[in-house]
Amino acid sequence: MNKVELQDPKLQSVTLQAAALRSAVQKWLPKKDFPKENVGTAFAPANIALCKYWGKRDPLWNLPETDSLSISLPHLGATTTVCFSDHSEDETFLNGHPASVQFSKRISEFLNLFRRDPAQHFHVETQSNIPISAGLASSAAGFAALVLALDQLYAWQLEPRRLSQLARLGSGSACRSFWPGFVEWQKGVHPEGEDSHGIPLDCHWPELRVGLLILEDAAKSISSREAMGITRKTSPFYGAWQAQVPKDMATLKVAIANQNFVQLAETAEANAKALHALMLSAAPSIVYAKPQTLDTWQRIWQLRDEGLPVYFTQDAGPNLKLLFLEKDLSDITAEFPNLRIVAPFGKSLGI
Ligand code: PMV
Repeated sequence: MNKVELQDPKLQSVTLQAAALRSAVQKWLPKKDFPKENVGTAFAPANIALCKYWGKRDPLWNLPETDSLSISLPHLGATTTVCFSDHSEDETFLNGHPASVQFSKRISEFLNLFRRDPAQHFHVETQSNIPISAGLASSAAGFAALVLALDQLYAWQLEPRRLSQLARLGSGSACRSFWPGFVEWQKGVHPEGEDSHGIPLDCHWPELRVGLLILEDAAKSISSREAMGITRKTSPFYGAWQAQVPKDMATLKVAIANQNFVQLAETAEANAKALHALMLSAAPSIVYAKPQTLDTWQRIWQLRDEGLPVYFTQDAGPNLKLLFLEKDLSDITAEFPNLRIVAPFGKSLGI
């Protein structure tokens, strides 16, 4: 940081906030010695929100305005390896190639929280088996895998809830990627997010299927971070969203407890539609859907009218995730032959 930058009050405040966050995080971490040649490697699954997180009450601590609830996708996600490097800066590789400047910067800013001294640099390699930045929760899996790998590197041996809190600082939804199955993220009330982390729900539902319908795998036009900030600030309906989420959370939990598929899938689809309507009402409007997304919504509604119980959810991208039951697999694959099918509570198919 040079003197000119320090004179800019906005930059100065950002720097001070980052320093405050780092010292708070350092207090959570054990100060154990560890072999410098340690290497951490870990996998974390992607998770798909059935009740979405959209809007931060505190951007520094990445604390959400509302609770959210997801389902993890076994075997689909990110595997990250991290070790110390002698280079003068961090090196970040994504799927075997040097990562973009933007991605590397985001990772290095996150790693700033964990460096024991400013001269400590990292070599990070991530392999993702889902498309990056296409609204398929690749960043959630990536930050969760990085935190698990750091836990090994520094030999912290932290509890999953603490790891979940750390990953939340990199990408909010990453805090739900530490468990299989359904995971709830409670918004919490603590100013430093001590009570804002993933909590696994007790449920085993072998017949449930999630289908990934990749309609376009280009990177998204606007990051979820930026888009949720604009929505929260400008949408006249943000208050209505905040009022709706607790109702959707309650309905989803009842549906999970009773393994009531229609109740679960109807609520998840309604929550996603409310989210995308909310974004449309922001200024400027945020629209992740592409023409083929809208065509597929219509086709899914038509299939339901014809008696096939298939529903969708959609995140910050044009792709859809279908929800259905094993018994309808052949009808669904006849309709969507390129669907990537995941059994969240069993072996994954078609991967
Ligand atoms: O955690 P982020 O910043 O990538 O935001 C995730 C946003 C959604 O995927 C749209 C919703 C969610 O809860 O995962």
